[in-house]
Amino acid sequence: MLKVIIVAGARPNFMKVAPLVAAMKRRSHEFHLILIHTGQHYDAAMSDAFFRDLEMPEPDVHLGVGSASHAVQTAEVIKAFEPYVINEKPDWVVVVGDVNSTIACALVCAKLNVKVAHVEAGLRSRDRTMPEEINRILTDQIADLLLTPSVDADENLRAEGIPPQRISFVGNVMIDSLIANLERAKKSTARADLDLANKDYAVLTLHRPSNVDDQGAFARILDALEQIAQRLPIVFPAHPRTRKMIDELGLTERVEKMKGLLVIDPAGYLDFLQLLSGARLVLTDSGGIQEETTVLGIPCITLRENTERPITVEMGTNKIAGTEASKIVEAANAALDHPPDKSAMKIPPLWDGKAADRILDALLDIQPNA
Ligand code: UD1
Repeated sequence: MLKVIIVAGARPNFMKVAPLVAAMKRRSHEFHLILIHTGQHYDAAMSDAFFRDLEMPEPDVHLGVGSASHAVQTAEVIKAFEPYVINEKPDWVVVVGDVNSTIACALVCAKLNVKVAHVEAGLRSRDRTMPEEINRILTDQIADLLLTPSVDADENLRAEGIPPQRISFVGNVMIDSLIANLERAKKSTARADLDLANKDYAVLTLHRPSNVDDQGAFARILDALEQIAQRLPIVFPAHPRTRKMIDELGLTERVEKMKGLLVIDPAGYLDFLQLLSGARLVLTDSGGIQEETTVLGIPCITLRENTERPITVEMGTNKIAGTEASKIVEAANAALDHPPDKSAMKIPPLWDGKAADRILDALLDIQPNA
């Protein structure tokens, strides 16, 4: 029996953790699970709604860390997490994704000589101004087991000199959640509540500091949205940091008055899946949404200069448009005028809904004290 701590911190972690939690409960003869929520995301809409929608149990421990600067937030997670690791002496700690909680908990384990496995290892945007890129690089350097979602990730890790025996290609666990919940998401009333017609609207998400903390970048994106919204309505579940920045940058009036732009509160997982799967077009600066649209076959315009998920461009529906208004509008028009040919689209290998069990098998394969 392996004692495993799974760490969940921020919204994009929850859909990666849920399939692992479910698989460990199913395989309770092999795994003793302790679920720890760091509290990096704490709003009901950013956290509780996801636990409910993903049918996750209450965390065994809630560290209640909350928001702060990167340094303080990371340090608070480190301070709060360490005593649990010392006390529980787990065989493995599993961290997912690239948020501040990921690197903080991985660092605690590395210093205590407790084995740590990183789910979604090896992704690289090669843009070190992104806080997530720093979190990815450092977590992969110190983790004992690197569980990768795609073959490009394996190549990145090998190129950084990581020994191949630490790397295991298991596929994309977030897609486990997508596949498991698509049917349930059909019952959501999100689309009807907003009066949106299936396949006749766009979904927008925006929260990266490089887009929303910078008045110039944010205004350029709004210029593009103004033009796209003339062709179809855009529904925009706004992240709390984005809401805050709209106010701080003095953009509130412009956003509120924009015809065709529908700003709503952050959506829960099932509501968001319904909105996403019924969209004709998606505009985003998120990482995970690039992957979900690839599996759903929906055109995705990424409002960034780079991606750590190039497989979604090579095999899927993703276009990297940058943040120049003309480039965004051009990409959106092209996607609306020439929707992707579904028969030509491919789903990346091992994005098959079964990654969680492969991850558990990998944990069993490597004996922690070997
Ligand atoms: C974090 C992740 C990012 C991920 C994103 C998804 C890092 C470095 N970044 O960014 O990779 O894509 O989550 O949401 O870990 N806030 C609230 N309520 C909350 C959480 C945050 O109001 O529940 C506000 C706070 O004002 C806070 C700000 O959002 O200062 C930023 O939150 P934080 O967790 O620091 O980073 P995110 O931008 O959410």
